[in-house]
Amino acid sequence: MITAVICAAGKGERAGYSENKILRELNGMPVLSYSLSAFAQCGEIEEILVACREEDEKKILPLLRPYPAARAVRGGDFRTESVYFALNEAKGEIVLVHDAARPFVTKEVIENCIQSVKKYGSGVCAVPTVDTVVIANDRNIQSVPARQNVFSVQTPQGFYKDQLLQAFERAYEENREREFTDESGIYARYIAPPRLCDGDRNNKKLTYSEDFAPCERVGFGVDTHAFYGEGEGTPLINFITLGGVRIPSEKILKAHSDGDVLVHALMDALLSAAGLRDIGYYFPDTEPKYKGAFSMELLREVLRLIGKQGFSPKNVSISVLAETPRLSPYIADMKKSLSEALGLSKNAIGIAAGTNEKLGYVGEKKGITCYATVLLKNS
Ligand code: CTP
Ligand code: MG
Repeated sequence: MITAVICAAGKGERAGYSENKILRELNGMPVLSYSLSAFAQCGEIEEILVACREEDEKKILPLLRPYPAARAVRGGDFRTESVYFALNEAKGEIVLVHDAARPFVTKEVIENCIQSVKKYGSGVCAVPTVDTVVIANDRNIQSVPARQNVFSVQTPQGFYKDQLLQAFERAYEENREREFTDESGIYARYIAPPRLCDGDRNNKKLTYSEDFAPCERVGFGVDTHAFYGEGEGTPLINFITLGGVRIPSEKILKAHSDGDVLVHALMDALLSAAGLRDIGYYFPDTEPKYKGAFSMELLREVLRLIGKQGFSPKNVSISVLAETPRLSPYIADMKKSLSEALGLSKNAIGIAAGTNEKLGYVGEKKGITCYATVLLKNS
């Protein structure tokens, strides 16, 4: 039987979030859940012990529920202690220790580790370094190890439990338990040189907030507004508003707000990318305060809502279908207006405008439709 120990009992101080970094969402899923899912896919692993701090238990326990093999164990004040507590509860003959902060671990990497333990008695996932590594003393280079001998060590790291536990006990007996940064160091000191096995370059540890940057979310939004028809009591204005820019137009868009169909599509795309509800939910047109509302102000509110989810826009791509008015002379102004509102450079904003070749409601000049796609990044 094999036990996986997932270390999740840190504070994530270097990442600087208000909560433990392993609870942060990456593309809609908490960091910890990635490792849980990868280990749960390996049939031989019958027990998954997740070391967690008491403060995080309320948030971690629901994440374990989908995995019957998983349960929480008490974490320690430093990583080695968290592993030591878990080892004392592990039932497996083999244990694999893994950092929850390495969400990109794969089933293949875990299986390499297991095979290495079975064949060589240990398996420490590692990748050859791409950088030259030097040993320095007081900023002076003392030696340069041959690069083919230098590896970056990752997790999982697998061992026979009895041997690993014995190594930990010796470290505690000698009061050296705080000296080691991982199991390979402890095993190397007290048992034998651990065997390296193939890790994966993608199996990175998320340490600083910028390590969370790969988290990107796409969103899509559409909106259509009708023009007033003949004899429908057109308001006495001679412009429409698109992207916060007033564009002279004989035909006027019907709307509860300023009818900025472009910004409405954009707001829905932003909200959708962040997994939130749509603009109708946040700004219902039954509420008088949104009558005549300036859509650019609502956009600011949408940016605040997605900011609360930890996101900000990275780029936006918008397509407007309008038979009238001609929009091309106003694209530059619209880009400028959106770049200011979104805090993006102009080259992160694409706006295309076209007619519908006289086809359908757009072609018959009955209305305007706008499509927006956005990419969000972790802010
Ligand atoms: N860890 C743990 N118990 C501790 C400290 C760390 O289980 N007492 C876990 C972390 O949750 C993380 C892994 O060990 O998954 C690797 O540690 P690290 O990247 O240092 O995470 P943190 O200790 O949370 O971050 P920091 O050092 O920046 O506070
Ligand atoms: Mg730490």
